[in-house]
Amino acid sequence: MIEYNRDIALRVLNDTAQTVEPELNKMYVKDGSIADTLYEAQSYALLAGGKRIRPALVLETCKMLGGDIQAALPFACAIEMVHTYSLIHDDLPCMDDDDLRRGKPTVHKVYGDAMAILAGDGMLTDAFSLCAMNSSVSGDCAAAAVAVLSGAAGSYGMVKGQVMDLYGEEHELSEAQLVELHMGKTGAMICASVQLGCLAAGITPEDERTKKLTLFAQKIGLVFQIIDDMLDVIANEAELGKKTGSDADKNKTTFMKFFSPEQARLYSEQLTKEAIDELCGMDNCERLVSLAMFLCDRKF
Ligand code: IPE
Ligand code: IPE
Ligand code: MG
Ligand code: MG
Ligand code: MG
Repeated sequence: MIEYNRDIALRVLNDTAQTVEPELNKMYVKDGSIADTLYEAQSYALLAGGKRIRPALVLETCKMLGGDIQAALPFACAIEMVHTYSLIHDDLPCMDDDDLRRGKPTVHKVYGDAMAILAGDGMLTDAFSLCAMNSSVSGDCAAAAVAVLSGAAGSYGMVKGQVMDLYGEEHELSEAQLVELHMGKTGAMICASVQLGCLAAGITPEDERTKKLTLFAQKIGLVFQIIDDMLDVIANEAELGKKTGSDADKNKTTFMKFFSPEQARLYSEQLTKEAIDELCGMDNCERLVSLAMFLCDRKF
């Protein structure tokens, strides 16, 4: 692995958790109504931990570009909410049928399938109002953020990737199709994270920096999912916080069908180097660079 400062990456994740979790904690408050179980299930999922990679990318991109963290914070929370909804639904018996997530029983195991579906439905929808109501940015910026997030999460982004993932349980996929799957189910939200950070910093989608950061994110997004596939085979379940061997149980087409763990690591390192090259010439990119390297090197 190329040398990097792991402490910086860990500090980035820790700083992100400190910034974002108090906000996530305020999202769902019981109101004494019949729906209190819903709010409890949503808080359970949102506050169960998680690495907070996507909010870290939003906040660090914004900071790197000289933006105000307060402008980025609602976008950072929104993307973590969309991500958390996707995990709740991903774990359902009709999807990956997993019982453990972020080191705790999955939402449907604790609250039942119907409540898990509804907790996800609510969280996904609430994420868009959080973006739209971001009072620290202009109306145009908020609208652009809603477009970025919905495009990444929607039927031509993450949901398309999830459909391909299910298809890959029953059918052979080529390596090119697997890359397309990964770019959808995982890459789209990673790209959206840096794009939201750019928007919060007042940088337009046409700006060269947004384009370079998007290329960076596409590459680290692919790395992220290659490593996720690899960890499903080689990781320690307690450290990972989710069941290992889950992909093989469902006969998923993953990168492990094409690469050995060693090859996957080498390919990820190469992609990470290419990703970092995209940031060449940008000031203050040390924290994002360390984060990218950590994502390639991660064990959980
Ligand atoms: C897991 O994402 C699901 C994928 C997209 C591969 P993370 O590994 O970021 O999960 P948390 O948020 O840390 O639990
Ligand atoms: C999940 O991918 C991706 C989304 C939730 C969009 P995986 O199914 O590989 O994630 P894990 O391994 O269950 O975390
Ligand atoms: Mg899945
Ligand atoms: Mg899964
Ligand atoms: Mg996985």
